[in-house]
Amino acid sequence: MDKIVIRGNGELNGVIPISGAKNAALPLMIASLLTSEPLTLGNMPRLADVEALKSILSNHGVDYQVKGKRAGDTGMTGQRIAFQASQIVDTTAPYELVRKMRASFWVIGPLLARAGQACVSLPGGCAIGTRPIDLFIESLQALGATIDIDAGYVNAKAPSGGLKGATYRFPKVSVGATHVMLMAASLADGTTVIENAAREPEVVDVANCLNAMGAKISGHGTTTIVIEGVTSLHGASHDVLPDRIETGTFAACVAMAGGDVLLQNARAGLLQEALDVLEKTGTEVEAGNDGIRIRRKGGSLAPIDFSTEPFPGFPTDLQAQFMALATRAEGVSHVTENIFENRFMHVQELARLGANISIEGQKATITGVDRLSGAPVMATDLRASMSLIIAGLVADGDTEVSRVYHLDRGFELLEDKLSAVGADIRRETAG
Ligand code: EPZ
Repeated sequence: MDKIVIRGNGELNGVIPISGAKNAALPLMIASLLTSEPLTLGNMPRLADVEALKSILSNHGVDYQVKGKRAGDTGMTGQRIAFQASQIVDTTAPYELVRKMRASFWVIGPLLARAGQACVSLPGGCAIGTRPIDLFIESLQALGATIDIDAGYVNAKAPSGGLKGATYRFPKVSVGATHVMLMAASLADGTTVIENAAREPEVVDVANCLNAMGAKISGHGTTTIVIEGVTSLHGASHDVLPDRIETGTFAACVAMAGGDVLLQNARAGLLQEALDVLEKTGTEVEAGNDGIRIRRKGGSLAPIDFSTEPFPGFPTDLQAQFMALATRAEGVSHVTENIFENRFMHVQELARLGANISIEGQKATITGVDRLSGAPVMATDLRASMSLIIAGLVADGDTEVSRVYHLDRGFELLEDKLSAVGADIRRETAG
């Protein structure tokens, strides 16, 4: 199995291009199920999750075609891919496919809206909590769907006249269930009002794309989204927004190692809360038209306190990376994880590198240490893996991260991007 070997190598300096957001790319690909016409997505990241979703979607009848490069495109420029579901050929999403990626469960919304039925395996995904599906079920039932769960599958059926618009208030904010309800309600009869909707930028990106496809959605980016159902959607072209989690991750790398890096194409408004926390460490953050410049020259990191919250709060997907930063701060930091109940698996691995972290329930207390030392460690989930790389940037000796398939799910050209700014990082492929 591949592993990534990283060795502390001083400052990072230069430019890191930020890719399209994985967590927007996936639901956007799923939205292609809503129309028989092509949906062309630009700025698509090259990731294992995108590849996996392509094969899941092709099972339902989605063809895809990678479009040619455009003037100025480089190896780091995202791909343009056209997805077309001329016909839905299968409304079942089997366990073998869905277990690999939780987001593939989201096909339930468009399949139900366009084909009137869906039979989707209960999902898998990163082991960061129990991650139930009750909110998906309740919200789709509100649109008139009948749903039963049998033998590990969710069977959903639309009423004979199709889904019906309704008002539904989510008892808890869910990104995935908001995506699904948006997609399903776009083709429902009448008006749907989603209350306590997720405000994440990726939800806004999907709503913008659906509107380009002919949907009538307003209020996205606020807690109340209104969708006037239409009878059909058409093809469109849409560019995936920049990845705020990749942005925050590389920002944490620069803060940890020191240096001066422009995160090209990054948008500060997508992660303001995390950037504010980063500034508290003593790192300079300067947002400009071409991206965000992160700079830390000398001095020690100051400790930080943050709690993960739905957007616009501090993102859970950056919790592990910022905790890695805190391991080297001068003083005691506090981190509270409010979104997932089991998202501290990186703590044990960080401890192997010499970090001093104690956990009580959902709260972590991190006492900064002077020195981390390289060791073999294991990636436990996608974002947690990055916390080990961040620690490895300043650890003495080699940090060897195994199970790197987690990283390949969500970080495009990771070693290339980091070595280009001076990190000593390489992948060892098992023979
Ligand atoms: C999305 O997951 C992201 N995934 C996650 O990123 C991210 O951590 C999460 O949102 C929160 O921001 C993608 O976009 C592909 P949720 P999602 O539904 O939609 C509970 C990464 O590393 N809940 O907003 O699955 C749930 O258990 C990934 O890229 C229910 O109780 O997250 C959690 O506690 C990991 N019932 C909370 O809501 C439900 O029916 C928020 O989860 C659904 C969710």
